Amino acid sequence: MMSHPLIRPRRNRRTPAIRSMVRETSLSPTDFVLPLFFHEDPVDTPIASMPGVTRWSLDSLVREAGEAHALGIPAVLLFPKIAEPLKTSCAEESSNDEGLVPRAVRALKAAHPSLCVITDVALDPYNSDGHDGIVQRDGAGEIEVLNDETVEVLCRQALSHARAGADVVAPSDMMDGRVAAIREALDDAGFTNVSILSYTAKYASALYGPFRGALDSAPKEGDKKTYQMDPANAREAVRESLLDEAEGADMLMVKPAGLYLDIIARVRESSVLPVAAYQVSGEYLMLKSAAAGGWLDERAIVLESLLAIKRAGADIILTYYAKQACGWIC
Ligand code: PBG
Repeated sequence: MMSHPLIRPRRNRRTPAIRSMVRETSLSPTDFVLPLFFHEDPVDTPIASMPGVTRWSLDSLVREAGEAHALGIPAVLLFPKIAEPLKTSCAEESSNDEGLVPRAVRALKAAHPSLCVITDVALDPYNSDGHDGIVQRDGAGEIEVLNDETVEVLCRQALSHARAGADVVAPSDMMDGRVAAIREALDDAGFTNVSILSYTAKYASALYGPFRGALDSAPKEGDKKTYQMDPANAREAVRESLLDEAEGADMLMVKPAGLYLDIIARVRESSVLPVAAYQVSGEYLMLKSAAAGGWLDERAIVLESLLAIKRAGADIILTYYAKQACGWIC
């Protein structure tokens, strides 16, 4: 008698109908947030470091966000390219109510009231040093990114976004104590309904290179390792998530996503808050280039990468593929 297995997991994979019944994870347009780049110029510019991604004029930004929203995407995340002459060491432009971001927020909310508008809170696009915080130089010429001084500027920046009508502010700077400070500043000014999506575990990753090219926001000197997290650390992400939750964050983010699925899972387990994960520019570029070379099937690999992020525990996925993915899953 030939022996045979009593239990056959393959029965649950036998037909598309059965597979659809037992599937544990699925993607929907409502999972996605589309990050959008824009600038003051009236013309749209393709971003060389991110094929298929455009830096929009204000008018085109509003149209692009409307298209995404019509596909079922609930939210966009805004990244401005600030003109060189407006960049200063104290990043004053970051809280200008007539600056590029507040004008974009007002235009987006006027055109698409039901769209959730998320703004990035960090100084790098505004800072002549290209760091997320204010840089100080010591006697030996070594640079330090100041924490508490930066947090004050971040609060002013978040307030100007709230005054413009942002639904959610997303501090991506990794300064200590900024979630509590921003919450207090918002509440004191009456913006109790503005949410905070905190970049809780943002790693000092090599995957941000294409993004910095898109915004001309690379640090002029040094790197971001004294504030962004060490890719070697996982427990530290749990520590950051506990702090952000205690400080009043409404949602937590892990960034990058694809190489940090274990971190997404850890943060998912250590917090009851919604968890977002950011498939960053370098992840986009890796997928895009492999597909452009004909080496990988773009639809299949992108959906697999997004599904993996969801399966790891993300409720929200920030991805430059948001619009295309909607077309692929529907
Ligand atoms: C900076 C910021 C970065 C990204 C989002 N916000 C870059 C950085 O930390 O240098 C990267 C996003 C991407 O690579 O897609 N506050």
